[in-house]
Amino acid sequence: MQTLRLAPDSIEKAAEIIRLGGLVAFPTETVYGLGADGFSPEACASVFAAKGRPADNPLILHLCDISQINQVAFDIPNTFYLLKDFFPGALTVILKKSDKVPMEVSAGLPTVAVRFPKNEIARELIRLSGTPIAAPSANKSGRPSPTRAEHVLADLDGRIDAVIHGGDCEYGLESTILDLSENTPSILRQGVITEPRISEKIGAVLLTQNAKDAPKAPGMKYAHYSPRAKVTLVSSANISKMTEKINALALSRENSAIMATDETFSAYTHGIVISLGSRADLDEIARNLFATLREFDKRGVSQVFAETLPTDGIGAAIMNRLIKSAGYSIIYV
Ligand code: TXA
Ligand code: MG
Repeated sequence: MQTLRLAPDSIEKAAEIIRLGGLVAFPTETVYGLGADGFSPEACASVFAAKGRPADNPLILHLCDISQINQVAFDIPNTFYLLKDFFPGALTVILKKSDKVPMEVSAGLPTVAVRFPKNEIARELIRLSGTPIAAPSANKSGRPSPTRAEHVLADLDGRIDAVIHGGDCEYGLESTILDLSENTPSILRQGVITEPRISEKIGAVLLTQNAKDAPKAPGMKYAHYSPRAKVTLVSSANISKMTEKINALALSRENSAIMATDETFSAYTHGIVISLGSRADLDEIARNLFATLREFDKRGVSQVFAETLPTDGIGAAIMNRLIKSAGYSIIYV
């Protein structure tokens, strides 16, 4: 199959492909999604095939209007409406699923994940397609999520019908996932919309994303966000101790690289060094994280040593992704 490259003014063409049961990668403000008609079991099944996605990992349904919620979910709690300031935005909620949503979307669960993306291309695509769009991140399963069209093509060229070139994603990290299907709301995946911002609207929420043994979001149990290089995190309360250790590790390994920050960049003397941005600007680091992991692959690096980063605000979501990309391999000094 040849993957069409579409400009942002060709959304009608992309919508036609969705209506015909095809797969279109499109930009959102978080990461690129791989879209299919969310009411078509066959189209949704082909998303799993294109990505190599495990069959028990459900898809998020993307809608463009809150009033569509009753088409895909029922028994909607008041907390959903209290969160309306985040719709559209980078918040995904889990609700009880209506019968209209095929099993291929929910992977057999009685619930459905729903998101209202803010990105105008995404919204227009959903509107013109006339159907909810089921979309996981548009990467090969296990790889870092794509934040540019070129990342989508690196993984899926020839496996999907089209990609819309919509530039760099605004945030670069996936949405926060909040489970509203049970009595106590719980965050299943941290993201751009932080826990304090959610609690401010609906009161206390649980944080269950790190329950590694029995994760409620099936996707959280799989290896994730991994470049081909092995990633090792180095953690210390003292930044110069951390940089010294990373330098020593990079010196001792052939073909290694360092994921630095602007503040530490000049302390490193060995291997390829790329800065994620300033420690004082975690939004910038979030935007660059997945692209940087992919850059190491482009340069053929076999080992990456990475710094641990501040965990305030969006930092918690950044560290969650980094720990996963390292396969929980962390050295404490
Ligand atoms: O920002 C995002 O959320 C991006 C853009 C494209 O919207 N999408 C995304 O999708 O990150 P994906 O498939 O890469 O991650 C979705 C996560 C998976 O961990 C999946 O297991 C979980 O959501 N999920 C989906 N439906 C669920 C459900 N009914 N219950 C629990 N977890 C669910
Ligand atoms: Mg994903």
